[in-house]
Amino acid sequence: MTDKVLKTFGKTHYVSELDTSMEGASVTLTGWVHRKREHGGVIFVIVRDSTGVIQAAGHREQAPDAFESMQTVTLESSIVVTGTIAVDKRAPTGIELKVTEFTVVNLADPEWPLEKDAGEAFLYDKRHLYLRSPSQTSIMQIKAGMSRAAHQFFDGEGFTEIFPPVMVGASVEGGATLFPFKYFGTTAYLSQSAQLYEEAAICGLEKVYLLSPSFRAEKHRTRRHLTEYWHLEAEILFGTHEDIMGVEERLVHALVSYITEHFQPQLDILKVKVRIPKLPFKRVSYDEAITIAEKQGFKVPWGEDLGTEAERAVSKQFKAPFFITGYPTSARSFYHMPDPDRPEITLSSDLIAPEGFGELTSGGQRIHDLDLLLKRIKDEKLDPSAYDWYLELRKFGLPPHSGFGMGLERFLVWLLKLKHIREACLFPRTPSRIHP
Ligand code: 4AD
Ligand code: MG
Repeated sequence: MTDKVLKTFGKTHYVSELDTSMEGASVTLTGWVHRKREHGGVIFVIVRDSTGVIQAAGHREQAPDAFESMQTVTLESSIVVTGTIAVDKRAPTGIELKVTEFTVVNLADPEWPLEKDAGEAFLYDKRHLYLRSPSQTSIMQIKAGMSRAAHQFFDGEGFTEIFPPVMVGASVEGGATLFPFKYFGTTAYLSQSAQLYEEAAICGLEKVYLLSPSFRAEKHRTRRHLTEYWHLEAEILFGTHEDIMGVEERLVHALVSYITEHFQPQLDILKVKVRIPKLPFKRVSYDEAITIAEKQGFKVPWGEDLGTEAERAVSKQFKAPFFITGYPTSARSFYHMPDPDRPEITLSSDLIAPEGFGELTSGGQRIHDLDLLLKRIKDEKLDPSAYDWYLELRKFGLPPHSGFGMGLERFLVWLLKLKHIREACLFPRTPSRIHP
């Protein structure tokens, strides 16, 4: 048996496919030298591939050529190794490979720079090397699983995927975090959110979603903010604020369930225990939230955004994700629908992760009335001409509609209890990092 894709080097198995029932079988693996030690005529090489590690033992008497290659091989060299499976309780994973052949494909420089005590900044200077460590590989595998689970979820709920532009002409979430660039004699921006395009797309497709990069020229440097992130957004026509909160909580439930079901080995490597949250999630009003914050010593003047610290204090009072609903109009972007019973607040919410984490998503109902939207755009001192097409949608039968957005990396920091959001990125982009 060989891998369907990888035929040239004779790979027969991935490490994760090997178990004690295969005792005596001969297998060929490809991978890297993860660790190495010599002990009385035997060399032990821990072989690593994308799925795990296994101990390979080379004996001087039984396989002298292999033994010699194993003696000269350096850490992080790429190798092809053939051997027979032996059950051995002393081996780290309970099985060992008795090596018969050992081929070095690319001999690594002996100075592997990532020492055990390497500092965080150095690890990200060397992100191209750090990425291959089992913890980072696990995070990337879970991130891929999260994308797969999201596609399955939205497909199952009858949403159509869309592919919006990333170069845009106007802000969605305020000018302060826009990245401008020159665009043939005019100024364009990197997209903060595809929401406005979704609102056009639902007029034909009714329920849409997307997974696309978003950009924020974020001034504040926190463990939850990036300048570039993957944004999962959805929008529903004829949908209310309550309808979209239903989508959000079912999505979070589906994502956590999928990851616990399919990624237990990776969760073990990361040493995290994941709890599947129960539905429905609690709804807490903005008014209640600022009262809770006040009891924790954070004074939030009514009408202002909660802010990171107060939001964290509120979140600490909860053990499961919950919504904060009814944010004031003054604390929200121009497109949010005012509550008809109380126009000083909006039909909007943030989904908050518990235990001091904070915002996972933002969403709500949008203004579908032309005059009201125009007034809000002017109130916010935005240029209506930049939104002419967005306004025109309101002239031609746009009904009530709602949507939300969630950062993939933000979700992963919460779920996997990562120290910093950059760990959830292949090559993170923050105010101080564009290289590598
Ligand atoms: O709260 P935000 O700014 O809302 C919007 O962009 C809406 N237009 C979305 C919509 O309704 N379609 O961003 C949505 C989510 C946040 O809740 C957070 O998960 C993530 O995007 N996010 C960030 N993630 C990482 N780094 C940043 N700088 C982020 N800013 C927002
Ligand atoms: Mg938000």
